[in-house]
Amino acid sequence: MDVFEAATTNIAVRDFHPKFISEGELKTILEAARLTQSAKNLQPWYFVVIKDRKTLDDLAHLMKGDVDEELLKRSPMAVAIIGDMRSEFWLFDLGRVSQTMTLVAWELGIGSCIVSGPEPPDRENYRMSAGEILGVHDGLKLQELLVLGYPKTSAKVRRKNRRKLEEIVFMEKFGQPTRQAGK
Ligand SMILES: Cc1cc2nc3c(=O)[nH]c(=O)nc-3n(C[C@H](O)[C@H](O)[C@H](O)COP(=O)(O)O)c2cc1C
Repeated sequence: MDVFEAATTNIAVRDFHPKFISEGELKTILEAARLTQSAKNLQPWYFVVIKDRKTLDDLAHLMKGDVDEELLKRSPMAVAIIGDMRSEFWLFDLGRVSQTMTLVAWELGIGSCIVSGPEPPDRENYRMSAGEILGVHDGLKLQELLVLGYPKTSAKVRRKNRRKLEEIVFMEKFGQPTRQAGK
């Protein structure tokens, strides 16, 4: 699978086999995360691998109000993605590192979904409580969980629901059509 295929076929996976991904696969995903670019090379990220069912269930209890609040209960494992907020670009960098992990997992046949918790105003409380469960210290912030596993059904057949190119890409000035967008 090349990068384009990974980027254009990847979708959120929400139903998994109960089996953990292999240690080798997990290491590959984490190694790709480690090597991701970040602003000023500050690498403002930490990861906690969570396989313990009790911890996953404790985190799942905090999910009431998430768009898919049962997702953690259906997931064999998760990786908590924790940011160091001292970097100006910490949130941007966490987005990049999450995407790296997602695409590398996808190439290995592993599905994933970001879990960001209940809708505001409860989301920040959730992040704090989830961070406490995982022992995240001051100055660092648990931003999201990435659930990972082998997809229960073939995850590649679902169509992506996305805006058209002409709605989002412009030429020279915002609002001016581009040829790439078919205008
Ligand atoms: C930053 C981010 C946060 C997300 N948070 C959640 C979440 O809290 N719960 C959830 O069920 N899905 C979450 N998702 C998954 C998206 O809802 C999903 O990727 C999107 O609807 C597009 O669907 P598709 O991936 O199946 O094409 C999140 C995705 C991203 C990129």
